[in-house]
Amino acid sequence: MTKLQSSIDPARVPRRTLASGAQIPVIGMGTFGSDKVSAVEVAAAVIDAARVGYRQFDCASVYGNEAPIGEALYTACSQIASRDQFWITSKLWNDKHAPRDVESSCKQSLRDLQVDYLDLYLVHWPYPNYHPPGCDVDTRSPQARPYIHSQFMETWGAMERLVSDGLVRHIGTSNMTIPKLELLLRDARVRPACNEMELHPHFQQPEFLHYLLKKQIQPIGYCPLGSPGRPERDRTPSDTSPLDDSMIRTVAENHHVHAAEVCLKWGVQRGEVVIPFSVNPRNYAANLRAVVEDPLTPQEMERIATSDRRCRLIKGQVFLWKQNQSWHDLWDENGIITPA
Ligand SMILES: NC(=O)c1ccc[n+]([C@@H]2O[C@H](COP(=O)([O-])OP(=O)(O)OC[C@H]3O[C@@H](n4cnc5c(N)ncnc54)[C@H](OP(=O)(O)O)[C@@H]3O)[C@@H](O)[C@H]2O)c1
Repeated sequence: MTKLQSSIDPARVPRRTLASGAQIPVIGMGTFGSDKVSAVEVAAAVIDAARVGYRQFDCASVYGNEAPIGEALYTACSQIASRDQFWITSKLWNDKHAPRDVESSCKQSLRDLQVDYLDLYLVHWPYPNYHPPGCDVDTRSPQARPYIHSQFMETWGAMERLVSDGLVRHIGTSNMTIPKLELLLRDARVRPACNEMELHPHFQQPEFLHYLLKKQIQPIGYCPLGSPGRPERDRTPSDTSPLDDSMIRTVAENHHVHAAEVCLKWGVQRGEVVIPFSVNPRNYAANLRAVVEDPLTPQEMERIATSDRRCRLIKGQVFLWKQNQSWHDLWDENGIITPA
């Protein structure tokens, strides 16, 4: 059991104001068990994290644990705080982009999570691929396609209807790029409120972050600790870890905290919402405390800004749509959408 003194008054946790005027806590708990932490363990962490003071949970149908998390959220909303005190995100999986599937997928997440509405519903990836859960990164889908904007807009139109129908408060994107967002912003009736993306000191994406802040799209940083527990399939020999970075460790020592907490302070202080995963009570309590107390100095922020290794960990290889492509093609690194 978490000790009572580990809890933090949720009113002390800063919030970001979105373009809609809604407020989202700067930290949420991630819920992807990386194929090794069971759904039951994650759900137990969710209910305890709500007791500790978390008010945001980042869920997704593909994580395969929304039903047990729903039990935890039901308890949280009846015993800890009312539903409107929580921010609950879910995501549309890649094989459900057909407009007819969007509403039914959202309703399934609502049923599983035992809530009447979502605060945020994201298109998980801009690629409408099916690949089996847990598959190897070398797996290729025969139906894999490049990003086709007209098709994405059909999915987005169905997402917009979820807002009009009151099933979700905000819609957003994940794993997008600036060129894709430019087209979406040109054509959307309902703008994305947030964009979820990989962000940590070894993968800082400063240009994209500033683009989003300027457009009033809230960046939500996933893998904010460099995902030390990610599945084996998502590891390559050239990957680096911000938790092993000697400079970040020195900053952490100066603050008498773990390097993980420095990563979170840094992410929040540069304008992100961070969503670290943990099922360890000591760790998730420390993560919440990290964004409430003892901020980094401007000098420390500047030093960490110099530690970028441009090391993308979640490369997305399963979305490649033809032979001999590199995963770099998925991320429009030349500033244009990679042609078919
Ligand atoms: N939109 C997307 O496509 C996408 C992609 C990836 C992830 N996500 C979301 O982002 C969330 C976070 O990403 P992630 O889980 O890959 O990586 P992460 O949050 O960077 O790292 C989680 C790992 O760090 C450890 N940890 C947490 N707090 C710690 C602390 N204070 N000290 C030391 N170790 C600590 C956890 O272990 P313990 O459990 O032992 O604490 C866990 O193994 C996911 O759960 C998911 O909700 C979204």
